[in-house]
Amino acid sequence: MLVTLEGIDGSGKTTVWEALRDAPVVPDEAVFTREPTGSWYGDAVRRSIGDDDADSLAELFLFTADHADHLSRTVRPALEDGKLVISDRYSDSRYAYQAASLDGVLKRPMEYIQGVHSPFTRPPDATLYFDVDPRTGAERSGVTNKLERAGYLSAVRSNYERLVSAEPERFVRIDATQSPEAVVEAAERALERLL
Ligand code: TYD
Repeated sequence: MLVTLEGIDGSGKTTVWEALRDAPVVPDEAVFTREPTGSWYGDAVRRSIGDDDADSLAELFLFTADHADHLSRTVRPALEDGKLVISDRYSDSRYAYQAASLDGVLKRPMEYIQGVHSPFTRPPDATLYFDVDPRTGAERSGVTNKLERAGYLSAVRSNYERLVSAEPERFVRIDATQSPEAVVEAAERALERLL
């Protein structure tokens, strides 16, 4: 089973991802992974994120290359071994973030990005969506790069909302404005129900 954690920057999902490692509901052999990954593809992505002048379409393909490598090297082998995989960010991050970056560059960017993924990706079985307003998200994340600015995050959040509406059965919405302890607790309960 593949469970992904999604939300705008500052939603606290990385804190949850870390806390879930020790959660009693999570089997010991579960695989914890993330995008961007720690591979050289992920390094290329981080270089691009740090460059205010990076081409948005080129950036989409870097993220997508990292995803392809993540799937073949980590996600598919773990799933074939019957393991639970918990990924901090996954394909929905492209559908939400790069659809916002490519708004005005491409026609119907979200559909385009989903179309690029669909022939090879492995969709998540369930997605915990950590919902926080863009101002809180931008404040919490401290705006360290172009992808974390409040105006941009508000477009990203609208895209997440579109994804949730399109597939309400896949998403579990978690109120991420609560205290970190309450958010972790809500995520553990959601995971317990899913497993
Ligand atoms: P993130 O996992 O939030 O890294 P960190 O914990 O170091 O902040 O990802 C880095 C940034 O990349 C974040 O602003 C979200 C963005 N991102 C995309 O724009 N598209 C993607 O497909 C992914 C995986 C991340």
